[in-house]
This record gives sequence, structure tokens and C-alpha cells, in this order.
Amino acid sequence: MEKIFICGIGGLVGSKLVELCKDKFETFGSFNLRDPNFNNVKSFQLDITNHEKLQHIIKETRPDIIINATALNNVDYCEEHENEANEVNVKAVSILSEISNLLNIKLVHLSTDSVFDGTKKEAYHELDHPNPINNYGRSKLLGENEVLEFKNNLVVRASVLYGWLPKSLSSQKTSSLKQINFAQWLISKLKLKEKVNITSEEFSSPIIADDFAKSILHLILNKKSGIFHSAPSLCINRYDFSIKLANYLNLDSSLIIPTTTEKLGRGVTTANNKCLNSTKLINTNYKFLTLDESFALIKQQMLI
Ligand SMILES: NC(=O)c1ccc[n+]([C@@H]2O[C@H](COP(=O)([O-])OP(=O)(O)OC[C@H]3O[C@@H](n4cnc5c(N)ncnc54)[C@H](OP(=O)(O)O)[C@@H]3O)[C@@H](O)[C@H]2O)c1
Repeated sequence: MEKIFICGIGGLVGSKLVELCKDKFETFGSFNLRDPNFNNVKSFQLDITNHEKLQHIIKETRPDIIINATALNNVDYCEEHENEANEVNVKAVSILSEISNLLNIKLVHLSTDSVFDGTKKEAYHELDHPNPINNYGRSKLLGENEVLEFKNNLVVRASVLYGWLPKSLSSQKTSSLKQINFAQWLISKLKLKEKVNITSEEFSSPIIADDFAKSILHLILNKKSGIFHSAPSLCINRYDFSIKLANYLNLDSSLIIPTTTEKLGRGVTTANNKCLNSTKLINTNYKFLTLDESFALIKQQMLI
């Protein structure tokens, strides 16, 4: 059985990856602040910016594949703390990349639509020129470059990610400084009957974390390398997406008020077009979940 090491097993995507991998691989993982306590997974506490410990754990476990699901992905925080963002999103990735190359390990790295500036009129392809407009995007692009220095490695970019993280994890502090994702935040507000202002200007191709994790495993099992976009074929603004989710869950969608990104007073420049074209992945025989299938999954997970 091949060995896989997942960095960031307490995160939204990391935790879904563990669930998918633990029957197929001998599975190892690391967490920093949030320990998910998975059965059958040998896990390590690791601050990924501790290079010595990182190298030691990888040398000890000697996996065949590493998936890096860690990131400092609070965009506002990254804007104010560029060095910290670079420590997690670039420097640690560079160390991971070097050690993986040295030990002949395939490195799979997760990235983002934020490497693009959002000025394109259509969805972005893998070969489109990246031009990040904030520190988060810049650090993620530099991280990608570290990984892609070695031919066998894989980078998988998601657009907006959403999903359901169990209370045991969503209530814990995390070093990513993004405790819950957009959908989970929205559901909690609507359940409390609170009004929310949501931008109708930002378009993206939202993907549920479960499907994103499944697509990553599909690419690994099909021995793919290079860059892949992973997002369903839809380009929807955040307001419309929120209305659809609320309606599906029978929550009061009249509490969702459309607004502009500027009125939300976001300090950080964000791109208005974050849509991704995933034809390259679809052509490998991958079928994304539809919005309704994804919402059904959330509904089911909310009950657990
Ligand atoms: N969320 C989105 O909308 C989105 C969109 C596109 C792409 N992405 C990318 O998808 C990937 C996964 O994101 P996600 O949504 O699953 O994020 P998440 O739920 O916030 O999880 C991030 C993980 O990073 C870990 N981490 C952060 N700093 C660390 C450090 N110094 N040492 C060790 N671990 C550290 C956290 O560990 P602890 O919790 O244990 O502290 C956590 O497990 C990231 O590469 C992100 O850039 C995310």
C-alpha cells in the first residue's frame, strides 16, 4: 500500500482528503492547532514554518505522496502581514518541495483563483497569465512556482471553496485564521434570523470541499502532474449563490441583501471574476457534483 502524508488535516479540504484517502493509502497527517483525531491516521503536531521538524517528520514517515492542504488564507490578514503569509504559503512550500524532490516524493499542492487579477471576461484556463492583486494571491502564486520546479508535482487550483466542517473542528482555533467558510457562516447567520449583506459583483465557480478533495484524489490516481483547475462549470455571483443555498435549505432568503464589494468596505482588493475553466480536468473523465448535489451533501452533513 502506498503512503500518503496530508499536511493540514484539521482544515476544510484536509479533513475531507483524509476521509477519502484513509482506506486507499497508509495515511499520515499533520495539524497545527486543530487536531481532528482521526482513527487509522498517524498524525503529528506540526507548525509548518518549523522547517527542521517538517523535514524530520517527512524523513521519518517517508511517504510516496504529500498533499499540502495548509495555507494562511485569511485574505485581509495576509494583506497586513505579508511576511507571515510568505512564511506559510511560500517558504514552507519551498522546503516541502525540496525535501520531496530529494526523497522522490510526489508533492500535490492546493492553490487558488486569487492568482488571477479578475479582468478577463471569461473563466480562467490553466494557461492564462497569473497576475495576483493582493498579498494572499501573490504568496500563493510564489508557492505554486516552488512546487512546479519539479516535473512530477501537481498544483490544483480551486475557486471559492465551501462546505460543512463538523462542530468539533469549526469551533476550534486555527492557524489559517479562517475558522469557517462562507457557506457555513451564511447558514449560521440565517439560522439566527440575522440580515446579511452579500456582494453581487464577485463572480466565482464555487466548489464544495468534498468534491474538490475527490478531484484531487482522481488526479493523483491518474498520475497527473502540472496545473489543473478544479471547479464545476458555473460562474455565479456570491449573492445568487447565497439565495440558492438558502432556498435549498429552506432558510429565509429575504434576509440576504445584495450589495457591492465597495460598500462591504473590504480593505483588500478582490477580483470580480474568479471563475475557473476546468475542461482539462473534465477531459480526464472527472464529473463534478451539481449545485443541488452539493447542497444535498451539506444538508446531510449538517444533521450529523
Ligand atoms: N477557502 C477557500 O475559499 C479557498 C479557495 C481556493 C483555494 N483555497 C486553497 O485550498 C487550500 C485549503 O484551504 P481550506 O479552505 O481547507 O483552508 P482551512 O480550512 O483554513 O485550512 C487551512 C489549514 O492550514 C493549516 N495551517 C495554517 N497555518 C499553518 C501553520 N503555520 N502550520 C501548520 N498548519 C497551518 C491549518 O492548520 P490548523 O487548523 O491545525 O491550525 C489548517 O489545517 C489552501 O491551499 C487554500 O489556499 C481555499
